[in-house]
Amino acid sequence: MNKMPNNPLWLAPMADITSWPVRKMFFRVGVGLAHTEMVASRALMEGHSSAFYSLQRHHDEGPLVLQLFSGDVASLLEAAQEAFRISSFEALSINMACPSKKVMASGGGASLINRPHVAAEMIRQAKNLGFPIWVKTRIPSRNLKDVASWCDLLISAGAKNVALHGRTVSQGYKGSSDRNIIGEVARAFPGKITGTGDVFTSDDVLDYLEKGCIGVLVARGALKDPFIVLDALAKLGFRNDRKATFEFQREIFRSFLSDLCQVKDNLAMHLLRRFLSCIFKGMPGASQLRSSMARAHGITQAFEIFNSFANNFSDFCAKEEAMNEHRKH
Ligand SMILES: Cc1cc2nc3c(=O)[nH]c(=O)nc-3n(C[C@H](O)[C@H](O)[C@H](O)COP(=O)(O)O)c2cc1C
Repeated sequence: MNKMPNNPLWLAPMADITSWPVRKMFFRVGVGLAHTEMVASRALMEGHSSAFYSLQRHHDEGPLVLQLFSGDVASLLEAAQEAFRISSFEALSINMACPSKKVMASGGGASLINRPHVAAEMIRQAKNLGFPIWVKTRIPSRNLKDVASWCDLLISAGAKNVALHGRTVSQGYKGSSDRNIIGEVARAFPGKITGTGDVFTSDDVLDYLEKGCIGVLVARGALKDPFIVLDALAKLGFRNDRKATFEFQREIFRSFLSDLCQVKDNLAMHLLRRFLSCIFKGMPGASQLRSSMARAHGITQAFEIFNSFANNFSDFCAKEEAMNEHRKH
């Protein structure tokens, strides 16, 4: 890898979310590595602009793993070569996890769990392109032997890292991610397994690491509260000069919005709405700000609304403090 992760808390791949403005925000908050959203190999080869947008990397980002999905070896190889020609990444992650009907019908995503020979061939041939190959997958069943032999196949074929979600395909997001089974496999393949599934608190992160995972992916937990990353890093004992103060939240959001102004308006508004409810949690004036921003016509207007809020921020804080004092007496 050109850039090395400086901590084991990593941003998971999330379709329609983890493009560069979101990743950059999470690197500022402190994640050690991030993934692109999954990119369809065919979309890249057919020249879809959304696929090229997903490949964009900002110079301020830390270690970045590209995720591709494909139902066949040839298109995976072609897309991987094209992607690494256009942009730089620390590794290629092959998606063998996505349970969506569309992705599985293409022969990619989690359907590869049922086609182990194709999965292994993808890894073997992609490895020859000269960059580290990672895999993201789900457990094939709740049986330890099945899970271990699936991971053994992937690692023997040359996968340097397997991000394992402890749910089966048929589970979707129901029930819980089987953290114990991930732990057993992590101990059987030291240094190779990253844990993913139900990471909502710093204790969840710690648990995966204590069970032997080399990294932990934060996904829905980061959408609920991006600052979970700060808590988790503090708990893990990583030196972190960032604190979840209102000023820090405001600065993170200001830079996120300014980055969003550089992408297409519909995409920017989609990402803004995704993070609007969580990013100002607990902040003075937040609900007022949220409702004004939700009514914004376009990202430029949203940024203007935010700026006038940010300029009056000290007043908001002073008012909130006065209210709190008043409530106490
Ligand atoms: C909105 C959303 C989009 C996702 N997109 C991808 C994806 O593109 N590729 C992938 O491998 N996993 C994807 N995932 C799965 C996550 O990376 C993660 O493995 C999963 O959500 C389990 O972690 P969690 O329970 O902590 O959310 C997605 C999850 C969510 C919530």
